[in-house]
Amino acid sequence: MNFTPITMNTTGENKTVKYYVRSWRKEEKTIGFVPTMGALHEGHLDLVRKARETCDKVVVSIFVNPLQFNNPTDLEKYPRNLESDVEMLVKENVDLIYAPLPMEFYPTPPNVSLDFGKVSSVLEGEMRPGHFSGVGIVVARLFHIVEPHKAFFGAKDLQQVAVIRNLINDLGFDIELVRCPTKRETSGLALSSRNKRLSESGKKTAAEIFAGLQLAMAGLEEFGFEEAKKLARQHLEKYPEIKTEYLEWVNPENMEILSSTSQQKNPAICIAAWVEGIRLIDNLLSEN
Ligand code: PAJ
Repeated sequence: MNFTPITMNTTGENKTVKYYVRSWRKEEKTIGFVPTMGALHEGHLDLVRKARETCDKVVVSIFVNPLQFNNPTDLEKYPRNLESDVEMLVKENVDLIYAPLPMEFYPTPPNVSLDFGKVSSVLEGEMRPGHFSGVGIVVARLFHIVEPHKAFFGAKDLQQVAVIRNLINDLGFDIELVRCPTKRETSGLALSSRNKRLSESGKKTAAEIFAGLQLAMAGLEEFGFEEAKKLARQHLEKYPEIKTEYLEWVNPENMEILSSTSQQKNPAICIAAWVEGIRLIDNLLSEN
């Protein structure tokens, strides 16, 4: 597939991105950035719209980052739809789409690895070794190329938001991190590029994951962390097609796992579960 210019505002070249963003910075325009791996849906577009509302210029990257896939089949099967992605972004009035080839983005394979300590040692970090190191490397490189004022990330990947907050603080990026709420189907199923691989009945079953999270959240005040979690588990067990990998209450700021003795005012409940061989993640925050 050829990633070189498809439309006026799509490029695969780092130097073109740098040329645009530096000229915008000279004109004192604020730059909003939405990093993505493509196969765009309304969840991604919501981030783009938030960026459009609050920034003068909006840059979106589309890059399926091999470094963050610990499972080669998942990387191979990850949906790719560059042409329709570009079409969607042009409709949203995006100023620049950056869709590099892996060779342009990583001229030499990175030797560095990033360790975010406790934030990345649980949940996704535990189940997908190397995943957050790969996310950190790609996002840091993207930040250097795009030099945004604000970067928009979805609460759908709550642990990723905590990792990026660390990346920004610890490595001294002068970027405001904006966390945007999870967009869902009317069934409650969190929008995800991976949903494209589910059958219609798989999607229906997968919506029960969110129903489970809602039950836990509704029961929290009365029953506490452990018992409320049981409510979710009991619900999920009614659907043998759902294989739960983890289900945990966390502090959404630092991803500390919460147990019956923890004190946390605004916890989140996080889940990873498999449906039809597809790994799905979701979470519910108590504050929205
Ligand atoms: P990707 O999965 O394409 O997601 C891009 C952004 O869209 C992330 O910030 C993600 O949290 C957000 N997003 C996905 N589904 C969403 C939903 N249903 N509602 C709201 N936001 C949603 O996350 C990645 O790519 C990559 O790890 C990346 C940050 C691009 C680094 O490679």
